[in-house]
Amino acid sequence: MASISLVAASALGKSSLKENAFMGVSLSNHSTMSEFDSVCARRTKRNRVAGGVRAQATAVMTPSETKFTESSKKTLRKGNVIITGASSGLGLATAKSLAESGKWNVIMACRDFLKTEKAAQSVGMSKENYTIMHLDLASLDSVRQFVETFRRSNLPLDVLVCNAAIYMPNAKTPTFTADGFEMGVGVNHLGHFLLSRLLVEDMVKSDYPSKRLVIVGSITGNTNTLAGNIPPKANLGDLRGLAGGMTGQNGSSMIDGGEFWGAKAYKDSKICNMLTMQEFHRRYHEDTGITFSSLYPGCIATTGLFREHIPLFRTLFPPFQKYITKGYVSETEAGNRLAQVVADPSLTKSGVYWSWNKTAASFENQLSQEASDVDKARKVWDLSEKLVGLA
Ligand SMILES: NC(=O)c1ccc[n+]([C@@H]2O[C@H](COP(=O)([O-])OP(=O)(O)OC[C@H]3O[C@@H](n4cnc5c(N)ncnc54)[C@H](OP(=O)(O)O)[C@@H]3O)[C@@H](O)[C@H]2O)c1
Repeated sequence: MASISLVAASALGKSSLKENAFMGVSLSNHSTMSEFDSVCARRTKRNRVAGGVRAQATAVMTPSETKFTESSKKTLRKGNVIITGASSGLGLATAKSLAESGKWNVIMACRDFLKTEKAAQSVGMSKENYTIMHLDLASLDSVRQFVETFRRSNLPLDVLVCNAAIYMPNAKTPTFTADGFEMGVGVNHLGHFLLSRLLVEDMVKSDYPSKRLVIVGSITGNTNTLAGNIPPKANLGDLRGLAGGMTGQNGSSMIDGGEFWGAKAYKDSKICNMLTMQEFHRRYHEDTGITFSSLYPGCIATTGLFREHIPLFRTLFPPFQKYITKGYVSETEAGNRLAQVVADPSLTKSGVYWSWNKTAASFENQLSQEASDVDKARKVWDLSEKLVGLA
């Protein structure tokens, strides 16, 4: 994984506004359950300390170094990493990058088995480095089924990457998941929320020296950037729509309770992804040593994410990003970036939203006010728990 280790994690920098111009442009499992239970008990106690010191901190501003050093535990086995949405784009490129290193067994968690198998073969992934398991994030039953299937494999879980997403910028009316949630937030946030909440338990049991849970974010959910200021802007409001389940039946299908807007639903879901990562960090990092991170991989203008956009946009967006904004990143490069967040020994800081500057060096980026709002993160967590049946 030479390309991964090349990038110095400590390098600091600021990505330019131009670089950030982006979418929205109108054109061996060894511990026991009791270990997990006691982690939860300690966590709950600490959370009761409430609005205390930890709750006041802004996680991304003050991420803590993991106490569990790389050298404190050693294992020679391959790491097991689950990547959702590994059938195309960023997920596939990351799967390829990790598989090629020979150090990872990639569990490709995807809704279309055949498509994923063909995709893995098309990028030359060798069979001994990957497994495909069915996961449809638009169904909570499917998420629970996936977790059961994974557990039956008896593989330890070392890293989980929540990467899959859908983006429906031109949808005039909402569509809904099997459980009745607006599709964008249902897939991108709620499906991943249930998945990661269930699987963090498995990660606690793993003996792997550097366990990580990565939730892919986006610049478009951050209103402290140029791209994040292109309408419609992300805004979760007072969460009244999320509280109502976003069913569109007796209320709104949008988190903020407003009118449906597909592009905004995507951006809102990305704020939820970044808030969830930070809430995980606050609730679990200290007790479990798991590193929680998010990232903006760059503008990968060629991926299937833009499949629902009008053809003219899909034609012009890649050259626009390549030659005008210069924010374009190839799928291979973006995959190497996400692979760093999964595996690079220098990216073990928890609670960080990673970005890359013009010299391709990673740096800890700042999230917008809303995307780092501690109170909102807790509320999104609590409401999401109810919606996915965990509370
Ligand atoms: N592209 C960019 O410029 C960019 C920028 C910032 C962040 N991101 C983030 O990068 C991540 C990957 O996006 P991408 O650009 O690589 O897009 P992509 O090529 O469209 O990949 C999205 C993946 O999500 C999967 N997926 C969609 N709905 C699903 C569902 N219901 N259940 C399971 N899997 C589902 C897709 O599966 P199918 O193959 O079955 O459709 C596909 O594998 C997303 O989190 C996105 O927000 C992308």
